[in-house]
Amino acid sequence: MKKLSLLAGLLTALLSLPSLAEPIVIKFSHVVAVDTPKGHAAEFFKKRAEELTQGRVKVEVYPNSTLYKDKEEMEALQIGAVQMLAPSLAKFGPLGVKEFEVFDLPYIFDNYEELHKVTQGALGRSLLDKLEPKGIRGLTYWDNGFKSFSANKPLHNPEDFKGLKMRIQSSKVLDAQMRTVGALPQVMAFSEVYQALQTGVVDGTENPISNLYTQKMHEVQKHLSLTQHGYLGYAVITNKKFWDGLPADIRSQLDQAMKEATVYANKIALEDNNAALESVKKSGKTQVYQPTAPERLALKKALVKTHGEMESRIGKELIQSVYKETDFDPAKL
Ligand code: LMR
Repeated sequence: MKKLSLLAGLLTALLSLPSLAEPIVIKFSHVVAVDTPKGHAAEFFKKRAEELTQGRVKVEVYPNSTLYKDKEEMEALQIGAVQMLAPSLAKFGPLGVKEFEVFDLPYIFDNYEELHKVTQGALGRSLLDKLEPKGIRGLTYWDNGFKSFSANKPLHNPEDFKGLKMRIQSSKVLDAQMRTVGALPQVMAFSEVYQALQTGVVDGTENPISNLYTQKMHEVQKHLSLTQHGYLGYAVITNKKFWDGLPADIRSQLDQAMKEATVYANKIALEDNNAALESVKKSGKTQVYQPTAPERLALKKALVKTHGEMESRIGKELIQSVYKETDFDPAKL
């Protein structure tokens, strides 16, 4: 009897220990609106992660740079202040992983199908593995979409970019891309772009339409040219120490949630961008222009020069490996 009550007492004490009752918290910070491919996918992941772990994991999503801006969020992940991010592939250069900038090369992917040959294959995995020495585990890729240029003047031909101050993400490939057509690139955090466009600190920018629309950039840009000249997507990353320290059953449930979130993200990316384009058109605030075939070709020829210029930064071999996957040959333009 005495033994039994001792056991009961021990059990009660154990159950009341906070560490046993409290869920593992994953802070997932990102910089875009909820109503975007990444915003939707992060919410989807949260839901499935909490369901599959039966509440043992709680995911707190902080959208729209409410917690951290671009550069800060990378640092926050490395020190463990947040556990998960999905930065654009154009934002890994400052971390010292320049190879991700291969995704920024203009026109290297013609469509999602070509892109997926890289992001869903061995090459994509090998790129994610390059993050490990930085204390980061790359989990997966999420799609956004193909970028279009906007400004306060029509952008039909390569010459139209001359002298324009264009906001870019922190990628040397994007810097080179803008300089190739005589524009002046300015690196700026995503959260600052709307105001910079509004006040004329920069003249124009590039983004998939879902980002343009949800940040209301179309309200401060008179012209949008549907150039689709480059890709913008994400690597979902986590703090390696945090991830490796998770109980194995939880880690595999989170892996499953991430797998499902990736399927979802890649399914809605095009839908979200198409819906955003319709909303931009309906708003009547910016003139939407569809470049003609000769205009597209002229811009392509001008921007593809960046590929050769960037070989020494990204690695010729890596660029060739992507060409092989996507059947791209710049000499054939
Ligand atoms: C940008 O800075 O333009 C994008 O990377 C924002 C995002 O995360 O989609």
